[in-house]
Amino acid sequence: MTGPALAGRTALVTGAASGIGAAVATRFVAEGASVLLCDVDEERGTALAAELGTAARFRRVDVTEEDDVAGAVAEAVERHGRLDCMVNNAGAVGRWRFVDDVPAAEWDAAFALLCRSVLFGIKHAVAPMRAAGGGSIIATGSVAGLRTGYGPHAYGAAKAAVVQLVRSAAVELAADRIRVNTLVPGGVATRIVGHGAGLTGDALDRSVDLVRADLRSLQPMPRAGEPDDLAAAAVFLASDASGFVTGQELVVDGGASVGRQWPADAVRMAERARQRDRERGR
Ligand SMILES: NC(=O)c1ccc[n+]([C@@H]2O[C@H](COP(=O)([O-])OP(=O)(O)OC[C@H]3O[C@@H](n4cnc5c(N)ncnc54)[C@H](O)[C@@H]3O)[C@@H](O)[C@H]2O)c1
Repeated sequence: MTGPALAGRTALVTGAASGIGAAVATRFVAEGASVLLCDVDEERGTALAAELGTAARFRRVDVTEEDDVAGAVAEAVERHGRLDCMVNNAGAVGRWRFVDDVPAAEWDAAFALLCRSVLFGIKHAVAPMRAAGGGSIIATGSVAGLRTGYGPHAYGAAKAAVVQLVRSAAVELAADRIRVNTLVPGGVATRIVGHGAGLTGDALDRSVDLVRADLRSLQPMPRAGEPDDLAAAAVFLASDASGFVTGQELVVDGGASVGRQWPADAVRMAERARQRDRERGR
């Protein structure tokens, strides 16, 4: 029998107060890791860390601030002597706008939150990982970075940029045994949509069920993605099971990015063809 996948490891997870990041932090602790949960949402982050017990701790981090990210890495290393896994996951969707309406400030803010933050995470994780002889860096991308129509222009462009940053960093850091991969969610039932719509409090919490129902038909698999679907994949990327995997996108989207399903017209044509074949005795 094998033991927990991350026994004795130290991990830092950003955006850990909610949704995918919260599920990743929870799974990592269950798999034996010590986890520093980082987020701007102090209330939820502190509560989750308390729930997870002594292997978890919360730190307020705004991932758009380089000093915050550097400080969090320093805390993890100081406390545990090492950093084995860095999960750059914090994010928000931003407003849907037509391309000729996108303000420069919104574009820059999206890139600072979704892409520059990943650079900071990689940049500051390298030294302790080199010192420890290796590590795993994970960035949360999105199907919106691979296909059109899944997010606003700035969001999709920033997530696409994450994929390329991960690839170039992965190649540079491979000799140090530092692996860098992008975890790519499809539609996942979290607070991200409600948050983008400006909801707060109970209404924001309730929005997750509405999003879950809406997402049932987004992808070939007839259910919404759940944060734990992504957390299971993150455990794989963080653990030795993926020891020879680097520079890749691990897409967890129920088939959304593969292609569309047959349109209703095509289904009817195929049924007619099958009926004709039967009539002709084929
Ligand atoms: N839910 C989806 O359908 C979906 C799909 C594709 C990609 N993603 C990506 O997954 C990641 C997690 O999103 P989620 O769905 O779990 O959303 P969520 O809203 O449940 O969680 C996002 C967390 O990030 C935190 N955050 C936002 N800005 C921050 C900042 N500047 N510094 C630190 N923390 C910050 C929020 O406080 C929140 O706790 C994001 O990068 C998102 O773009 C989500």
